[in-house]
Amino acid sequence: MGDAGNIVEPNTSKDNFKSATDLIAEPLTLPCGLRLPNRLVKCPMQETLAEPPNFDPPIHKFKNLYKKWSQAQYGLLITGQVQVDIRFFSIAGDVCTHPDSTSPEIMAKWKEWASIAQADGTPCIVQLAHPGRMSPAGAGNRPKEMQALCPSSVPVKLGDTWLDKLALDTLLGTPKEMTLEDIDQTVENFVRGAVMARDAGFAGSQLHGAHGFLLSQFLSPHTNRRTDDYGGTPEKRMTLLKRLVREIRARCPPPYCLSVKLNSGDYMGTEGLQQQEALEQVRWLVTCGMIDFVEISGGNAEQKTSKLHNSFPTKTISQAPKMLESTRIREGFFTEFAEKIQAMKSPIPIQLSGGFRSRTGMADAIDSGVCDLIGLGRAAVLEPELPRKVLLNADFDDDHALGMSHKVRGQWFANMIPAKVVGGSLPIEFFYYNMRRLGSGLVSDPNASIPFVFFNNIWEGLRSSILAALQRLTLARAATTGQT
Ligand SMILES: Cc1cc2nc3c(=O)[nH]c(=O)nc-3n(C[C@H](O)[C@H](O)[C@H](O)COP(=O)(O)O)c2cc1C
Repeated sequence: MGDAGNIVEPNTSKDNFKSATDLIAEPLTLPCGLRLPNRLVKCPMQETLAEPPNFDPPIHKFKNLYKKWSQAQYGLLITGQVQVDIRFFSIAGDVCTHPDSTSPEIMAKWKEWASIAQADGTPCIVQLAHPGRMSPAGAGNRPKEMQALCPSSVPVKLGDTWLDKLALDTLLGTPKEMTLEDIDQTVENFVRGAVMARDAGFAGSQLHGAHGFLLSQFLSPHTNRRTDDYGGTPEKRMTLLKRLVREIRARCPPPYCLSVKLNSGDYMGTEGLQQQEALEQVRWLVTCGMIDFVEISGGNAEQKTSKLHNSFPTKTISQAPKMLESTRIREGFFTEFAEKIQAMKSPIPIQLSGGFRSRTGMADAIDSGVCDLIGLGRAAVLEPELPRKVLLNADFDDDHALGMSHKVRGQWFANMIPAKVVGGSLPIEFFYYNMRRLGSGLVSDPNASIPFVFFNNIWEGLRSSILAALQRLTLARAATTGQT
């Protein structure tokens, strides 16, 4: 894979011996020519810090958050998902590219973001996304009466209780099957986002084709029941993604870096995306000659039984595993799928994300040839400077080079909430809360519990509504007394 090319045999020769630190610290040059200083990638994570009405990059917060990541010695940073359509967000607070983003005032914010993120020499690419049917009313600018979009009109199902049904109906409703005009508009929006990233000075972009959002809705037979050019066969389910790759590449040739994040499956049982079809999707991406690396992940916002979701309440490892030639560590959640990609002898690098915590676990995944790049998500929130401070730091021996052992506290509270739609999403709120702390110049608080974060969110919501109302009243009073 990538530099590695073929399946890598275990490192047994003394001359070839590479330590775990050597393996993760080795630079990698992508097909577009972009040189990554090492193999550690900060995963895309929604920062939830942008504000209405335009959701432009919140520089006053990113100055703190992205500065931390830029100084952390990652090989690559991937931003949290940036929405390409201001009407449809998966959560309030994502950054958005919209038709006015190219105005000098907004472009200046984008340029500042790119410059903060890349100030210390680590390149940064922008993840572009559309939530499709996973777009709750009130998150983006879509009016309540406007339906969310989906390849076919397949509603989300998250739980069976009447409360779940009521919550889903109120929040997501039944999505509208996209017309060909909707699809053309969506392509235009993604291309605009990719060009915006380039013009702002980012090193490239990544298309979010995982986790049950719009692009993965097109890739899955569960949500794509179309019979036109965009669905009906595995080949046609890829039409939208292929079109996006071609149109973005036409506008943004190398050295622009273009990546795609894909799932190893959609966890929707026999009617969902099967592994063989997912592998064929990867095969096209790695051989099309237009993509620089593919990120492999798992999990589905609709299906809570996937490995990633299950891992939220689980305590992470407290001891680094030993790297042995005979036993592979397999720390990553989706290693089995990555091994199947390895058998394809991918000519481009593969990033594996999910579950990595220890230097030895990461080095073992690279050494065994299953991937070239290691994605770090939650660890990059808890300890934003983990690479520089620990993983690449020679002061820590292999036994001690790992992210902090951690479990999100207060899972009982999430379990008590009768609507799974709400309860199931609470553990991830812990990480949003901590990114907001980092954005405010504070450090992450590993001890914040789910009930604390829940009530804090309510309080913050109330506080900003009260402040906005007071501001309006003061302005109105000043206007009537002629003070403005
Ligand atoms: C708070 C949070 C926000 C996330 N947002 C995104 C996102 O915007 N785009 C994306 O592709 N994945 C997103 N993810 C998934 C991560 O990129 C990554 O795949 C996942 O956290 C697994 O890695 P980990 O075990 O190192 O956390 C998010 C994860 C978390 C915890």
